[in-house]
Order: sequence, then C-alpha cells, then structure tokens
Amino acid sequence: SWTMLNIVEDAVAAVRDQIGDGRAICALSGGVDSAVAAAIVQRAIGDRLTCVFVDHGLLRKGEAEQVERDFVDATGVKLRVVDASERFLKALSGVTDPEEKRKIIGREFIRVFEDEQRAILADGPVDFLVQGTLYPDVVESGGGTGTANIKSHHNVGGLPDDLRFELVEPLRTLFKDEVRRAGEQLGLPSAMVWRQPFPGPGLGIRIIGEVTRERLDVLRDADAIAREELSRAGLDRDIWQCPVVLLADVRSVGVQGDGRTYGHPVVLRPVTSEDAMTADWSRVPYDVLSRISTRITNEVREINRVVLDVTSKPPGTIEWE
Ligand code: XMP
Repeated sequence: SWTMLNIVEDAVAAVRDQIGDGRAICALSGGVDSAVAAAIVQRAIGDRLTCVFVDHGLLRKGEAEQVERDFVDATGVKLRVVDASERFLKALSGVTDPEEKRKIIGREFIRVFEDEQRAILADGPVDFLVQGTLYPDVVESGGGTGTANIKSHHNVGGLPDDLRFELVEPLRTLFKDEVRRAGEQLGLPSAMVWRQPFPGPGLGIRIIGEVTRERLDVLRDADAIAREELSRAGLDRDIWQCPVVLLADVRSVGVQGDGRTYGHPVVLRPVTSEDAMTADWSRVPYDVLSRISTRITNEVREINRVVLDVTSKPPGTIEWE
C-alpha cells in the first residue's frame, strides 16, 4: 500500500542519512526482524553492509537455506555464513540444565560473531551495527540506545572496545505487523516474513536432556511434519506458535508392524497468545492432531508416541525449558 511504501522508503532514507558513506554489519538470525532490518539497510547502502549468519545448527528444517539462499536471492545482501554447528554441539555436550544451555548458546554466539566482526574489520573500518529492535522492545527497555549490544536474550554484558559500534535500528518505530508488511513490500521470502516466534537458543531448548546431532535430526523431522500439517490446515494465523519438544531421556514401549518398539515421545505445544506473556493451549481440531501424530510416528523411526500439552501459561511456560 501507499503508506507501507512510505514507511520502507522513509526508513531507507533515514539509514542513508545516518550511515553516510560508512560501513555496517548485521547478524541474521533467520527471524523476520533482523531480515527486514538488513534488507532496509541493504537498500540504503548496498554492499557497504555485510551480514553475518551464524548457523548454530539449532534451527529447524529449511531455515538455514532460507537465509543463505532465499533471503540473499531476494535482497542481494552480502552475506558471510559461518557453519558453527560443530562448535555449538561440542560446547553443549553433556549439558542438560536449561539455563546452562541458554548461557552456553549465547556465549558461543557472541564469540563466533566477534570473530566474524574482526575478519570484516580487516577490510576496513566499520562503525555501525544493525539491529532489528522493534517499538515494543524500545518501550520495554526504557527507550535508551546506548552502546552496541546483541539482543538481551543473548545475555551479553560489555563488549570489547574494538567492537563498539553505533546502532542502526530501522524498525525502532514499528510494530510487528508493520515489520511483516515491510518485509512483504521488500519481497522477502514469505516463510521468513510469517515465521512464528522462535527462541534464539532454538531447538537446543526443545530437547529435554543432552543436545546431540542425532536428537536434533529427529526433532527437526518431527517439527517439520507438525508445521506442514498445521499450515495445510490453515492454522498458521490462529496459532501463536507450536513448539515440538523431544523428551530425549524418556522411552516408552510401543508396537509397530510385528515388532515391539522402545522409542521417544514428542510433545506438541500449540498455544494461542497475544504477547507470549500469557497463553492458552490451542484447541487444534482432532483430525489435524491425528494426522500429525500418524505421520510423525510413521515417518520418524525414533518416535513412537505423540502427546499434547494442555497447560495454559501460567502455570506452564510456552517452551519446556
Ligand atoms: P516462555 O517459554 O517463557 O516463552 O513462555 C515466551 C516466548 O519467548 C520465547 N523464548 C525465547 N526467546 N530466547 C528467545 O529469543 C530465549 O531464550 C527464549 N525463551 C523463550 C518463546 O518461544 C515464546 O515465544
């Protein structure tokens, strides 16, 4: 629409004013906010923006490709991809405590991103860091800007002196729905534009127990089936998000064909919410649940049981960890 066009064009012009002929960097997460922010800055300064995508190996099926291929095709963004999955798995090895997982993932992310920043700085000075901060984030944090900080959920304290940047926050005045419309206006992949909330620590906090590559693969397969069936049923806009959780340390007896199985359960956690502060479990139609359950147990060998979480928030949180 006309107003949306203006929002994008105004944002591009403001970024051009702020950055001048400087250079900027931006970390992409796979989510809509960083993607739209980067696309706006790319329009403003082109190749003087370098994006970094740290693939921690904890994303869902297809999401890394969405960033590396579809987003780049749609925007022409200059992107550095770091496949850091080995490093994250190593750091997470033997860890089962949810808060410890979060800390480790946040810390490793910062380390990898800092290494990339230094590599980019070797090509010349960079003064700006792009962040996808939205208006509600600004209000929540009291409105201050301050020095560069990767999103607070990464639990960063201070940053080294050589990695201090002026922040560029092109989405600072926008709400989520405006960001999505800007994303469409900018021609971003619709799976990115309409992605439901997904936690920074990714599937790392959806495996109850130790995170391993095998378990991640199992969860990715189950999650992809649940997402596909919920979409096919037209429920994407009704459901706030639907974590699929692998109870990796639990086994139960089942039967499949002629054989006894001893596999793992997954939990479906579809919730309805306005802002994630409170939530209710979604009344997903039985036939949709049935298709998800049948497909997961048929198609994912390690899983022999699918259970539904019918807890509101509070007392349950949306995520299991
Ligand atoms: P909970 O589980 O607290 O989740 O009800 C509320 C919302 O926040 C997301 N979430 C996170 N997002 N880093 C994030 O970026 C995190 O560590 C994290 N933990 C939970 C969750 O998916 C839900 O949308």
